[in-house]
Amino acid sequence: MLDYEKTYVESIKNPEIFWENIAKELSWYKPWDKVLDWKYPYARWFVGGQTNIVYNALDRWQNTDIKNKTALIWVSQEQTERRFTYGQLNEEVSKFANGLKSLGVKKGDKITIYLPRIPEQFIAMLACLKIGAVHSVVYSGFSADALKNRVEDAQAKIVICSNSYPYGKKVVESKKNVDEALKENKTVEHVIVVERMKSDEIRQSQIQSDKTSEKNSDSIQLNPIPSDFIYIWWHELMAKQSTECPTEMMESSDPSFILYTSGTTGKPKGIIHGHGGYMVGIYATLKYVFDIKPDDIFWSTADAGWITGHSYILYSPLINGITMFVYEGTPDFPDIEIWWRLIDKYKVTKFYTAPTAVRALMKFGEDHLKKYDFSSLKILGSVGEPINPEAWLWFYKHVGREKLPIMDTWWQTETGMFMITPVPSVKLKPGSAFKPFFGIDADVVDDKGNKVPTNTQGYLIVRKPWPAMLLDVYNNPTRYKETYFEKIPNVYFAGDSAKIDEDGFYWIVGRNDDVIKVSGHRLGSAELESAFVSNTKVAEAAVIGKPHEVKGESIKAFVILKQGVVPSDELKAELVQTVRKSIGPIATPDEIDFVEKLPKTRSGKIMRRVLKAQELGLPVGDTSTLES
Ligand code: PRX
Repeated sequence: MLDYEKTYVESIKNPEIFWENIAKELSWYKPWDKVLDWKYPYARWFVGGQTNIVYNALDRWQNTDIKNKTALIWVSQEQTERRFTYGQLNEEVSKFANGLKSLGVKKGDKITIYLPRIPEQFIAMLACLKIGAVHSVVYSGFSADALKNRVEDAQAKIVICSNSYPYGKKVVESKKNVDEALKENKTVEHVIVVERMKSDEIRQSQIQSDKTSEKNSDSIQLNPIPSDFIYIWWHELMAKQSTECPTEMMESSDPSFILYTSGTTGKPKGIIHGHGGYMVGIYATLKYVFDIKPDDIFWSTADAGWITGHSYILYSPLINGITMFVYEGTPDFPDIEIWWRLIDKYKVTKFYTAPTAVRALMKFGEDHLKKYDFSSLKILGSVGEPINPEAWLWFYKHVGREKLPIMDTWWQTETGMFMITPVPSVKLKPGSAFKPFFGIDADVVDDKGNKVPTNTQGYLIVRKPWPAMLLDVYNNPTRYKETYFEKIPNVYFAGDSAKIDEDGFYWIVGRNDDVIKVSGHRLGSAELESAFVSNTKVAEAAVIGKPHEVKGESIKAFVILKQGVVPSDELKAELVQTVRKSIGPIATPDEIDFVEKLPKTRSGKIMRRVLKAQELGLPVGDTSTLES
């Protein structure tokens, strides 16, 4: 166990030496000439070095004992199991990489992965990186419209999806969303379809379900209508491929993936990460924060549609040579004991989840987890939103059995890796994410960049680059500069507010921009507003986040209807559907108020903070720019 204070002080004296020593623990085709090239606002790590994330996640284990170790234990909703050793995973990834090559995929091509939480999701991600292609994983719960925007922005050549998949009692007809999303697409050449459900299974589950699921055709028609691209089955493509495929040598800062995330404007931004720096950052953070040991079975309950899934379900556990555990289903299916049963059965050692899930399960009391054996567990983790002390203590008491530390890790899609986080050796305070990770020069400042006094709320910033820092915003360097590096010059602006207490502990307050965190999912107010306005009955809309007991925040919308449209409850229900269709079920609004006017500045910008203050009964603050 490391002495946090001593190691931190040492690391921050010269972060480049700290990170270079870690980079030396990993494999490189060619070592770097320079550790860091920092040309504000761009940081390039391990310049001149050549590597590949997959070289470290899979290749380097093939001549060691780890080849026969389990890399992935996957449990389906029906509680069937699929296991892959490092050797088998490597073969599957090589086969799929060869399959992609046979379809003409080249280094730098963009590939959209729209898959549920099944092993093929991970195989596809690894295969892209192996051949130097850039993946863009789109969360499988996003709607056809949201998928369309992301495929178009990335100019994807290939889309990978599943036919239908089970989600609790429902069946999600994923391929239909793809059919819809690609109607006018010009860049996609092939769509590879994983057969997650056979047509008889689909029919069966529909008979059993409460008939809420949409109707499905009896069999999946791969190419229902003539289009410019071709659908192919995953298993047919795989059947023809060899299990040998060389791993592409990538420059350290070559892109590995794009991940879309919501910001303050309507359009999600494509965050670009690289190979070398990203891999070093995620490797070290998991290793120290979760005190990685060779026999670890690491379970992150996230989905690979989000950054947590990229960094800590898949890449870092494999780079650390441990076993990843993945459950396909939701935390309440088939019942609310499923997570506890799985921890007990599979002897999970490290369990990393979200405050929303803890709060949701907490509502059922304690009896449902008392009978399970959690003696395999060593460390717990939390991510995605602030964890309130009550939820922290419940997690500590009933899952940690008052013995296990909780690593409350603050980080973002953009940071790629944990930034503010404890390590297991330190004393914790429930609700605080502790202090910066080694080598991270974070602070809380005012709008001029000056440190704010102890216990005063300010902006969370980072002064120096870190290895897994985003490389850019895809196709939008202006947005990169403006969002992260110009709000307060010379530092990375996180978009979160925080306080530092008298012991140096960080308390994350929440977002200070128009990003809303619903069950840990990141949604932009502007993105939601444009979804409302896509309904022809709506003239204008303003959306805010409101505190919510389980979800952290809920969505409230203020809507001005077009002249002559009569407000009604039916119309509210229709607007809920409009938003779900435009973004997906995660964006379901909780409250809609029909209003006549919205608070605006003289230049016509909606002042959401005025609405929020009014809604929550808080002081409205400076209203000098308010027009009416
Ligand atoms: O507001 C912070 C919150 O989640 C935001 C980042 O969201 P996303 O890019 O989707 O990544 C989530 C998974 C890393 C942050 O700006 N957030 C994340 N972790 C925490 C948190 N807020 C408080 N405490 C955390 N541990």
